[in-house]
Amino acid sequence: MSFAGTILRSRAMAALTSPHGVDRYLEQINPMWAAREVRAQVLSVHRETGGEHPVATITLQPTSTWRGHRAGQYVQVGVDLPGSRRTTRCFTISSAASLPGETITLTVRAQGEARPGQSVSRWLVERAQPGDLVHLSQAEGDFVLEESPATPTNNHLLFVTGGSGITPAMSILRTLLRDGYDGRAGRRVTFLHYARSAEDQIFADELAEIAAGDNDVDVVLRHGSVFSEFELRRLVPAYAETDTWACGPAPMLDLVREAYADSTRLRTELFNVASVVPSGAAEGDVAFSRSGEQAANTGATLLEQAEALGLRPTSGCRMGICFSCTATKSSGTVRNVLTGEESSLPDEEIRVCVTSPVGDCVVDL
Ligand code: FES
Repeated sequence: MSFAGTILRSRAMAALTSPHGVDRYLEQINPMWAAREVRAQVLSVHRETGGEHPVATITLQPTSTWRGHRAGQYVQVGVDLPGSRRTTRCFTISSAASLPGETITLTVRAQGEARPGQSVSRWLVERAQPGDLVHLSQAEGDFVLEESPATPTNNHLLFVTGGSGITPAMSILRTLLRDGYDGRAGRRVTFLHYARSAEDQIFADELAEIAAGDNDVDVVLRHGSVFSEFELRRLVPAYAETDTWACGPAPMLDLVREAYADSTRLRTELFNVASVVPSGAAEGDVAFSRSGEQAANTGATLLEQAEALGLRPTSGCRMGICFSCTATKSSGTVRNVLTGEESSLPDEEIRVCVTSPVGDCVVDL
């Protein structure tokens, strides 16, 4: 950490720049300067597939605050959508494992409304341009290889993916190939992927190249068919004793879990854990004690509920990273929308951008 970085991250600097935080000032000077938050500049957007839900690979240069990622992890991406507040969604990183300072790629399928810019994924795929800025969390998730890619074992690895669930497996495969698993360690990799059609196949050219390479990687692509235990057993007879990573749509994952019912070798992507957890039935009232405002709990985050009442609490990232929205909850039970964890402690410091009330709740705002 540089001396300047130490100063910028110090408590004294935080106090001096309160309540907005040092990052609000730094981004005014240069959007790629940050002390705590992570932002990233779009370097390029490469279209992978077309159709109603096109897929694109977005290459990003994160700020120096990025700590790097392990292959298979995901990141929260915050985008200031036109005409609305910052919206955050999770996307798996598709590039090989990164170190601080290195670029990363996200491979994103456009979901939601067909109007460009009306969802984070559509904005990234259809609207993002080189030079645009997005907000990032640090990398999260445990859908990763437990061993370092540099560990020379010859365990067979099996990946079973469907649709855009290919991205974390691709990150792991790219890391293995980059870091020396091109057959030298004798490690066999079976990469089984299901896509709706050949036109929907993501990374088609690169997978064809890997399949043709002398690298102990078996690439098996299936277009238009669904996962079956029969096919898996034919490809990898000892699949239940083989370390397996599976990621894809829920119906496919259900079938894969059934096939591994008696096995402990299956890991499935926990991608949705970090997505916003639905707050369930909203009950009770939310009171903001300093301003005297009160309303029925809508189940939205406390930041959104405060803003709906006309309050303007300090906020920055709006994704639980910068802590600039921290406020004291005097009473009530709240839920962290990122983890689903509930807490009823009195006089608790909470980040109102990622916290929603569960019943009656009083917050010092
Ligand atoms: S606004 Fe950044 S943590 Fe809430």
